[in-house]
Amino acid sequence: MSFLITLVDEDVNFQCEANQTILDAALQQGVTLSYGCKNGLCGSCIGTFISGQIEYPNGQPDGINADEVSNHQALFCKATPLSDLSIKVKVIKEEIQEIKNLPARVKEIKYLSEDVIQLVLQLPSVEPFDFKAGQWIYFVLKDGRKRAFSIANSPNDKNELELQIRHAPGGIFTDFVFNNLKPGALLKIEGPHGSFFNQQDESPVLLVAGGTGFAPIKGILEEIVKQETKQPIHLFWGLRSKKDLYLQQLINTWVKDYGISYTPVLSEPEKEDAWKGNTGFVHQAVLEQFPQLSNFAVYMAGPPQMIDACKQSFISAGLDKNKLYYDSFDYSTDAIDAMKKEAK
Ligand code: FES
Repeated sequence: MSFLITLVDEDVNFQCEANQTILDAALQQGVTLSYGCKNGLCGSCIGTFISGQIEYPNGQPDGINADEVSNHQALFCKATPLSDLSIKVKVIKEEIQEIKNLPARVKEIKYLSEDVIQLVLQLPSVEPFDFKAGQWIYFVLKDGRKRAFSIANSPNDKNELELQIRHAPGGIFTDFVFNNLKPGALLKIEGPHGSFFNQQDESPVLLVAGGTGFAPIKGILEEIVKQETKQPIHLFWGLRSKKDLYLQQLINTWVKDYGISYTPVLSEPEKEDAWKGNTGFVHQAVLEQFPQLSNFAVYMAGPPQMIDACKQSFISAGLDKNKLYYDSFDYSTDAIDAMKKEAK
């Protein structure tokens, strides 16, 4: 049985099977709804249903709260229809690329910091892999499990993907990457996924990263820099201490050559860091410099706590929520593996 889903502000409709998520049905029929984790956690696919009924076959996802549920909001990556529906949801106008399953050869493994590795993957030259800077891929493991990581570069003609992988000790994939993976190994990837990418907005741009959330932000920044756009660009990067910072030379080149402003923010600088820069939470550092955000477009990527704090405080500071693009790292299931192991 299938139902008709109508996007009320878009004059668009599509069919959705009773056992299919509304997001999957939309993507299959060429309608790109905003989405991130596809796992009911990050909130990127949230929208409102104006009429009709939905259900969550696997229970209400963690990424939606009671207020949102009572306001008829839903996470369309997990919701399935119980009737025809009229919904309001953010639609991405740009065409999203075909999702492919491909082999990828490990070209380079390099430590960026104590617990972050840069992995460069070489993709087959006969099979083009189109993606947008900021999107993410899955590694498909031998047992079929998947691990999601953001692409850290913008598209290039070398057919390479660059990733920044933080070690989550006890996590099945990152233990393997840090302990066993060697250049030349063949991995399987699936992607590209997600709707976090440069929206070609002409507003001044704020890029806000937390930890390895710098990966997709770096990709987007590379893309913006290539386009030689004229709008001001401000990068904020929150990390724990000085030893966690990486690729500083690259950032300094962007600062020098493209006039980007850069503010690293350390939450727990160590004594020997002798840190004179910003400390505390990254959203506070942003608001200290820019108390009024009504003119900005904001791209942010990092852990859910950072994303939530930024979302609330930036919208209170006047940011138009339609110009707020984010990628919440809720779906780093390797970290979840590690936590489960620790809890045993
Ligand atoms: S909660 Fe639906 S895409 Fe993340």
